[in-house]
Amino acid sequence: MQIVRELDDLRGEVKKAKKEGKSIGLVPTMGFLHEGHLSLVRSASSQDDVVVVSVFVNPIQFGENEDYEDYPRDLESDLQKAREAGGDLMFCPRVADMYPPGYATFVEVERLTEGLCGANRPGHFRGVTTVVNKLFNLVEPDRAYFGQKDAQQALTIKRMAEDLNMNVEVRVGPVIREEDGVALSSRNSYLSPEERRAARVLYRALSKARDLVYIDKEYRVETVRQCIEDEVGGEPLAQLEYAEIVNGDDLSSISEVKGNVLIALAVKIGSTRLIDNMLLEV
Ligand code: PAJ
Repeated sequence: MQIVRELDDLRGEVKKAKKEGKSIGLVPTMGFLHEGHLSLVRSASSQDDVVVVSVFVNPIQFGENEDYEDYPRDLESDLQKAREAGGDLMFCPRVADMYPPGYATFVEVERLTEGLCGANRPGHFRGVTTVVNKLFNLVEPDRAYFGQKDAQQALTIKRMAEDLNMNVEVRVGPVIREEDGVALSSRNSYLSPEERRAARVLYRALSKARDLVYIDKEYRVETVRQCIEDEVGGEPLAQLEYAEIVNGDDLSSISEVKGNVLIALAVKIGSTRLIDNMLLEV
């Protein structure tokens, strides 16, 4: 697998692939790859001729007091894992090349980014859509692959691609979990063994909410939300940031749990912020 750092080199590789009539799949990541990322690489590899995995810890999507500096990095291991999963090219641009002095352009998707994580991480999605737009322009992929783990991000990127007439098909893969239900995340590496056990509370709360809806036929939004709050409240190491039950297509408020419904939550386990979600068809 080839590593490309320079923007011009990347453009050269893209040009070459296009000339040969090859389709390009892009899997944008911030590295420290795990099975969640690799499931997307495999999916890309089964669809596209050339699979570009980008590894870029994007400073502009982190808040001032967030973990940009501490974000885990291991390029050697990323390279090996991505290669085994079917990646062809790893694009690792430098921050100074992505955001040179004088940089002044940002992309912002309205409404979809206002609630959930957007309400708690101001500027986060603006940073995400900006970097993803730049990656789309650099890689010119036929398809780009994102995970349902970041449900709001996936919807926001789909919206951006559609609204701005980007010539990219956005695909979304399912949430990949550990055996005990914990969603894979690069940030799980921050957790102590005790915190890792406590992190199970996210999936446990989502599963309880799902059962309440599907088995007990409870369709009141407040009651389902309360069930999540109680479950998270019962875990001493966990602090609930939000639990939301919203329309799964556009994240708008709903008056009852009916149709395509997204249950999403963010929880702090110690100082580590984790998110998870579940889609229900009711
Ligand atoms: P990162 O957190 O590295 O995630 C890269 C991609 O992997 C995202 O599309 C994310 O949803 C997906 N992913 C992460 N964990 C997953 C899991 N357990 N199951 C399924 N998919 C999972 O998301 C980002 O990076 C950045 O915001 C990025 C889009 C790269 C822009 O900087």
